[in-house]
Amino acid sequence: MKRGSIVLIVAQIANNDFHGFLPTRGSVMLDFVFVALFAVIPVMVWSIYLVKYRQVDQTHKCEWHKRIQLALAVILLVAVIAFEVDLRFITKDWRSLAEASPFYASQIVDYSLWIHLCFAVPTPLLWIFVIVRALKKFPKPAAPCEYSSRHIVWGRTAAGAMLMTAVTGWAFYWLAFVA
Ligand code: HEM
Repeated sequence: MKRGSIVLIVAQIANNDFHGFLPTRGSVMLDFVFVALFAVIPVMVWSIYLVKYRQVDQTHKCEWHKRIQLALAVILLVAVIAFEVDLRFITKDWRSLAEASPFYASQIVDYSLWIHLCFAVPTPLLWIFVIVRALKKFPKPAAPCEYSSRHIVWGRTAAGAMLMTAVTGWAFYWLAFVA
């Protein structure tokens, strides 16, 4: 993100102007998470593509996959913390921003949030599990080993959960703050 955008966001927070930088009803942080997921998903897909379609002698791609996944995990952790701080201390009441939505009164917004939470809550736990196991079991630098087959199963599950978190999060954002 450019320096100017960061200054703008900080100025908005200082001004108690909680409308974000997108032309929607979302707060700064809701907008930030909405946009951040568009960046995280392609990077995750690229990281998995890198390791899946490597040649047998290209084990350095495993190390790059490890670095990218660890970087994504840190970014996601920071986003989750910032998001929680925003909803608890800054925006506080997202419902007042969503009330204007034609999907609010019929509770479709609430249902979409519940569906989103079904993915958003277990996903970080799955990621922690996959990362902790991978760091323990793979050699350093990272390379295939007897643990590979299990990591592939859990890694695909964790990646799928992340994708569903993003898709359901975007749907909730659209229903609550765009429509
Ligand atoms: C949440 C984080 C991670 C996710 C979602 C993830 C996901 C995946 C997926 C889906 C594959 C299999 C690709 C395929 O062949 O279909 C894979 C392979 C691999 N990952 Fe991860 N990964 C993660 C973290 C890590 C970490 C931290 C390491 C290293 C310590 C690592 C090392 C590897 C290696 C070495 C392979 C290749 C296995 C082989 O083909 O024998 N991964 N990962």
